[in-house]
Amino acid sequence: MDSGCLMSGDRDETGLASMTHDAVNEVRVIAQEPSLNDAARRLASRFGLTFDEAGASGLAYQLVLTSERLELRSNLTRQGPVYVDFTAGTVAHRQRFGGGRKQLIARAVGMKKGESPRILDATAGMARDAFVLACLGSEVTLIERSPVIAALLENGLQRAQKHIELGELVRERLSLIYGDALDVMRHLDGDDQPDVIFLDPMFPEKMKSALVKKEMRVFRDIAGKDIDADKLLPIALEKAVKRVVVKRPLYAGWLNDMKPTMEMKSGKQRFDIYMTHPELPS
Ligand SMILES: C[S@@+](CC[C@H](N)C(=O)[O-])C[C@H]1O[C@@H](n2cnc3c(N)ncnc32)[C@H](O)[C@@H]1O
Repeated sequence: MDSGCLMSGDRDETGLASMTHDAVNEVRVIAQEPSLNDAARRLASRFGLTFDEAGASGLAYQLVLTSERLELRSNLTRQGPVYVDFTAGTVAHRQRFGGGRKQLIARAVGMKKGESPRILDATAGMARDAFVLACLGSEVTLIERSPVIAALLENGLQRAQKHIELGELVRERLSLIYGDALDVMRHLDGDDQPDVIFLDPMFPEKMKSALVKKEMRVFRDIAGKDIDADKLLPIALEKAVKRVVVKRPLYAGWLNDMKPTMEMKSGKQRFDIYMTHPELPS
């Protein structure tokens, strides 16, 4: 997921009116068929969402439990549903990530030969970065505070755990905590402290870009703007054993206005790296 989000009432170049973050309060959980009502009700209760047995129509967003998966549907766009699927394009992933420890994200978190840091991804989103890091060998704990995104993520992880090729990797290396990373990190102590804390909070887009997929717009609507993102860095610096890595768009300033130990750049992306332990940077 790219960082950034649309403002309330903005109209993007697709002509769609964007909703405020309050849109998330209007999300209803529905079941596609009556036999799934109980499961949908339980899911809604676990994430503090509202289950609607009647199958709420007319709302901008619906979290729909089907016999296959949990998906977010929107009547704001004509796009298809949004859901988490780690297993799509497995072969492509393998090709892309096999031996990929030279790629920027791997170097940013300090992956070295025979060394895979334990990572806490405190801003999980769709867990695309986390999945790459797990494929490259790290154990990654994900934290996500948006109930809708956490529900989608949990469902994606559950399905991936059963996948014939990726199941073992997902079971062993990826786990999710639903909650606010500020709270979770504050309680980390001793052996629970990860080597690396990875942060990728939302960042407002410089320009509305036609390249930004509609899926991402829906997602931004749901997750909000992360206006408290600066607070994540000081506590992450206290708790990460080796380093904190902040993913930023190239044009964005430093998180919490704090100068990193070093920066790594590629294309429109930058990783700001804060060493918390005097290891030699790779
Ligand atoms: C830009 S997305 C992350 C994308 C992710 N790196 C990926 O690869 O899919 C930011 C996510 O962080 C979540 N987030 C922001 N602040 C958080 C916090 N304090 N605790 C937990 N999640 C947070 C937002 O809800 C959003 O889903």
